[in-house]
Amino acid sequence: MKIFDMKLFAGASALATLMLSGCDLPPQETVQRGYRGTGMEAVYSPEALQEIVAANQVPAAIPAVSAEGPKAADIYQNVEVLGHLSVGEFTRLMAAITQWVSPEQGCNYCHVAGEGFEEDTLYTKKVARVMIAMTQNANQNWGAHVGGAGVTCYTCHRGNNVPEQVWTIGVAPRHASGHVHQMQNVAHQASNAYASLPFDPFTRYLLEDNAARVAGDTALPTGHEASIESTEYVYSLMMHYSDALGVNCTHCHNSRAFASWEQSNSERVKAWHGQQMVKEMNNEYINPTNAWLPAYRQGPLGDAQKVNCATCHQGAYQPLLGANMLADYPNLGALAPAPTDPVEEAIDAMEEMVEDAVEAIQGMEMESASLEQEDASSGEAY
Ligand code: HEC
Ligand code: HEC
Ligand code: HEC
Ligand code: HEC
Repeated sequence: MKIFDMKLFAGASALATLMLSGCDLPPQETVQRGYRGTGMEAVYSPEALQEIVAANQVPAAIPAVSAEGPKAADIYQNVEVLGHLSVGEFTRLMAAITQWVSPEQGCNYCHVAGEGFEEDTLYTKKVARVMIAMTQNANQNWGAHVGGAGVTCYTCHRGNNVPEQVWTIGVAPRHASGHVHQMQNVAHQASNAYASLPFDPFTRYLLEDNAARVAGDTALPTGHEASIESTEYVYSLMMHYSDALGVNCTHCHNSRAFASWEQSNSERVKAWHGQQMVKEMNNEYINPTNAWLPAYRQGPLGDAQKVNCATCHQGAYQPLLGANMLADYPNLGALAPAPTDPVEEAIDAMEEMVEDAVEAIQGMEMESASLEQEDASSGEAY
């Protein structure tokens, strides 16, 4: 049976493949990614690929500086997330952040000219502090997703104050009757690659803690509760996954059994970790900033602009085509060490002093003992 025939049976796959590849002009190239005859293939447009390569070049890094010398926390007054860097590294990172986030506005996007750098006057500086911790946390604790390449501010921002691809909780359009429009058969939203599907799959799966499940695992519908509505939300999310990464469904799934983890590619597991990471970013880091964001940075329901797969990936299967982002900026690789309690620190220091003193006394005793022994042995020899 030809691969094309197989696709007729795997209806969803055929539809998606057409949607994903149908807009690019021929010629197309096909790469087999799984067992022969299972429809596990990726369709590429060499022309589109060239555009992706051109759009994913990483700017040159600022020359590295020494990690020696006084720490930023010893010199500066209000450093919570970068205090463990040397002053040189700290200054280099400020310059890099400026390049990545506010190349046009410069330092003054976060600091007020004429005021001390330690002041937290601008909301942008407070957001930046949260962002620094969010980036450090991704690199330290989400190796299952970003491990290898790592991420910096540039991965998302690319020279923009706010990354190009963000989302806020959707307000569904309404029918003339006043009923909420579920967006069936209305294909005009970029969020899910213009599919006729619910246009905000993000609130359910990248903010709330839901697993995207469609298939039941029993022959009869006993206890399996995926409604048509929630199924549409899952497919909408999947359209976003494919679109955000610039890949077919078969990059992650075996289209003969979408639900089976055993038959999926390892990329699907990686995507699952990505989904959990994005949920944490949105809930733990970004949502709390909402308390002090200006209204023009909020969505129609007053929530902060959030992360989805496209925020980092921007159409590439790996952001910036897998460039190692941490090699030049290892300072963003881990969270700042937890601040130490001054009382505990004083006790530790005292204990160390006592231990040193005891050791010194023991050393003196041993020395005099061995001197006595030497005396004694010398006495014997002569
Ligand atoms: C995108 C926002 C942003 C930009 C742009 C930025 N900074 Fe900062 N700056 C911060 C944040 C956030 C902190 C606090 C870091 C912390 O809490 O560890 C900070 C802290 C500082 C401090 C330490 C002040 C103190 O005493 O606590 C200095 C100095 C500084 N920045 C200099 C600069 C310079 C110079 C530039 C331009 C090259 C710059 N910054 C650009 C966000 C920014
Ligand atoms: C995973 C993607 C991601 C990464 C990585 C990231 N950001 Fe952001 N950034 C966002 C999103 C989403 C917003 C909008 C949310 C908000 O305003 O709180 C944002 C907003 C900001 C803003 C507010 C700008 C404005 O005009 O309102 C600043 C400043 C900022 N980021 C700085 C940084 C810095 C500095 C880093 C690196 C340490 C960084 N970001 C890394 C996604 C990211
Ligand atoms: C980047 C990887 C990736 C791509 C591309 C992708 N998926 Fe998924 N898919 C996943 C992950 C991960 C899950 C499970 C999500 C969860 O656990 O919440 C999933 C779940 C599903 C499910 C639910 C399975 C179940 O257990 O019931 C279906 C159906 C599905 N995907 C179909 C598709 C279709 C159709 C496409 C192409 C339009 C697609 N997927 C593209 C990663 C991917
Ligand atoms: C904070 C940035 C960031 C976000 C957000 C993000 N990713 Fe990734 N993703 C990465 C990085 C970095 C890599 C490359 C890691 C490496 O070097 O192996 C990657 C790799 C992947 C891969 C492996 C691709 C391959 O072929 O090797 C998949 C699949 C993937 N991401 C899916 C997703 C999905 C789905 C989402 C949204 C739920 C998502 N990612 C959100 C940063 C991100």
